[in-house]
Amino acid sequence: MTDQPSPQPATARRSQALKGSVRVPGDKSISHRALLLGGLAAGTTRISGLLEGDDVLRTAAAMRAFGASVEGGNGEWILRGVGNGCLLEPREPLDFGNSGTGARLVMGLAGVYDMPTAFKGDASLSKRPMGRVLDPLRLMGVQVEATPGDRLPLTLRGPKTAAPITYRVPVPSAQVKSGVLLAGLNAPGVTTVIEAAPTRDHTEKMLRAFGASLEVETDAAGLRHIRIGGQGRLTGQAITVPGDPSSAAFVVIAALLVPGSDVLVENVMMNPTRTGLIDTLREMGASIEVLNGRVAGGEDVADLRVRSSELRGVTVPPERAPSMIDEYPVLAVAAAFAEGETLMQGLEELRIKESDRLAAVSAGLKANGADCEEGKDWLLVRGSPEGRGLGGGIVETSLDHRIAMSFLVMGLAAEQAVTVDDTGMIATSFPHFLDVMRSVGAQIE
Ligand code: S3P
Repeated sequence: MTDQPSPQPATARRSQALKGSVRVPGDKSISHRALLLGGLAAGTTRISGLLEGDDVLRTAAAMRAFGASVEGGNGEWILRGVGNGCLLEPREPLDFGNSGTGARLVMGLAGVYDMPTAFKGDASLSKRPMGRVLDPLRLMGVQVEATPGDRLPLTLRGPKTAAPITYRVPVPSAQVKSGVLLAGLNAPGVTTVIEAAPTRDHTEKMLRAFGASLEVETDAAGLRHIRIGGQGRLTGQAITVPGDPSSAAFVVIAALLVPGSDVLVENVMMNPTRTGLIDTLREMGASIEVLNGRVAGGEDVADLRVRSSELRGVTVPPERAPSMIDEYPVLAVAAAFAEGETLMQGLEELRIKESDRLAAVSAGLKANGADCEEGKDWLLVRGSPEGRGLGGGIVETSLDHRIAMSFLVMGLAAEQAVTVDDTGMIATSFPHFLDVMRSVGAQIE
């Protein structure tokens, strides 16, 4: 297992109006995929705006272990890939730290190769289910040696020739979809993934950009059929990574909650498979202006001007969950300041993220005086406008970056300060979070 450093607690206090403009780091999902495909494709890939968070750097290390040259810093990276079908056998187990995305996508990418690849991770990742990616890989002929319940650490060994499959993804998961598509790259013929609920489509878009033969068709029943032709040539590309909407969410909600705030968040990706939070906040009465809409690196991008707003509770429809799956913890914090009730449904996937996020959010809210109820797959929050009676608690973050950032945001607007027991893992997705928040006036020590 990855070694755990000692915890770094932090406390957020009620702050004066937040003002200024900020940039959030590059999108985590796109950063992982850019490294995976850049390390695989023949020739040179140049990436600018890469998120240099711990999760993504682990994917960079994995691609090096497979024989790719991966060098860079300050967001600018150059890769020389091995060529599709030509990954080398890693000498040591690949350590994915806290990163479910890195682990699951690389399982797809490398698991079908006729060689052993070993995977390990930190205490959080070692509890997360891997069967959702291993099941389709088994159908392709991959042998799996894993601890009970298909958890890390585990070793995969592919067959001489992987079998292309048609696989209907049983849960709405971009990681599973992507794992199977990446495995399909090294199988002869066509591998098809069928998804009922649309999830983030970055893998499909980027595979196409690198020259993979990939088509997407939506049938009469609304199912998406994604077909990839295996064993084709992939060629290095230039990739610009847009700002991560899941990181922007913390700045946006802080600006909404702290009275008098007016903050511009620049260069935020607006891919419609990722904007469910913005839709929801606007329904709650949030003042979010989408400015300067443009296309950068094949994705819609905009600047968001956010002014503090009096929020009203809403019911968030379950079918919106995939487009805001990582944003529920911070939405729950916003709901704690809204007038009335906010009901969030269809949240079963939150139980198997970096922590059981439903339990962690509900415990954190309760520890800070908020009124909420948690069900198997739902959360109900009764808000307390102006943060009356909120705060004063210590939040257990359970190695979960989004829990830590969400509750620090809560402390900026609550009556009493909010303390989180650790902030070290924030570096997995948003390494300069504390500096960015302080630059607009957030009081976090
Ligand atoms: C991700 C997909 C989502 C999301 C995760 C990143 C991706 O996970 O929660 O943070 O990059 O594909 P699931 O596919 O498990 O829903």
